[in-house]
Amino acid sequence: MIRDTNYDRIACCYDFLAQIVFGNQLVAAQNHFLSDLMVPKKILVFGGGTGHMIAPLLHLYPYAWIHYLESSEAMISKAKARVTPENDNLCFTCGTEKDLVDKINVYDVVITPFVLDVFEGKDIERVLELLFDALRPGGRWIHTDFYVDRDSPGWQKMMIWLMYRFFKVTARQQNQLLPDFDVYFHSFPLRQLACRSFYNQMMRTLLYEKYQEREPRLAVSKRASETLFS
Ligand SMILES: C[S@@+](CC[C@H](N)C(=O)[O-])C[C@H]1O[C@@H](n2cnc3c(N)ncnc32)[C@H](O)[C@@H]1O
Repeated sequence: MIRDTNYDRIACCYDFLAQIVFGNQLVAAQNHFLSDLMVPKKILVFGGGTGHMIAPLLHLYPYAWIHYLESSEAMISKAKARVTPENDNLCFTCGTEKDLVDKINVYDVVITPFVLDVFEGKDIERVLELLFDALRPGGRWIHTDFYVDRDSPGWQKMMIWLMYRFFKVTARQQNQLLPDFDVYFHSFPLRQLACRSFYNQMMRTLLYEKYQEREPRLAVSKRASETLFS
């Protein structure tokens, strides 16, 4: 179950490893659409890790209030080290999607950088529902994550497989398969505004806009709980 996942143990070397394996592409992908958010008043960063996007967000939107919701205390400590006491428009919460239960139409922007791959099946459906409900109609959502499909090169599938094994050992991450994000996202009233690929198409960042409230029951097809490859 997702509640056992804990990134504390790898927070100290996460950026170093990410840099070795992906160079600057992980950061470039998640920061790519940050300047396309209109003028948000409230931003939610969910699972932001060590906080690569904090500086650009503060620079682009100095008057926005930023809620940094992250489940690893060690990751939050590293993210906090990037800000000064004057940055009082930042609120760090060590928590999970459960902290969003009472947040309805609160945020102008939701950002999910390489975090939704932690969830699977009913968990990802629930997390997406909570994030979607927390976003106000007309608000924007930047979703960045890995992407492979059946036509992807074998080395990319192997890298994803290795990453999931690595996080299983180091972070007790239980799911072992990359979700088919398109199927999940397409089940919400979200308009895709833009999409950009990185790292030989293995990473994608997408900019969505919420155009209406969702139906009470999320209708995700059964295919979504399967994966693109196994
Ligand atoms: C793969 S890391 C990505 C970190 C960062 N976004 C990056 O790209 O460098 C996933 C992050 O999501 C956080 N996370 C995992 N499950 C979470 C949850 N249920 N709620 C909030 N954050 C979570 C982890 O602590 C970790 O920092």
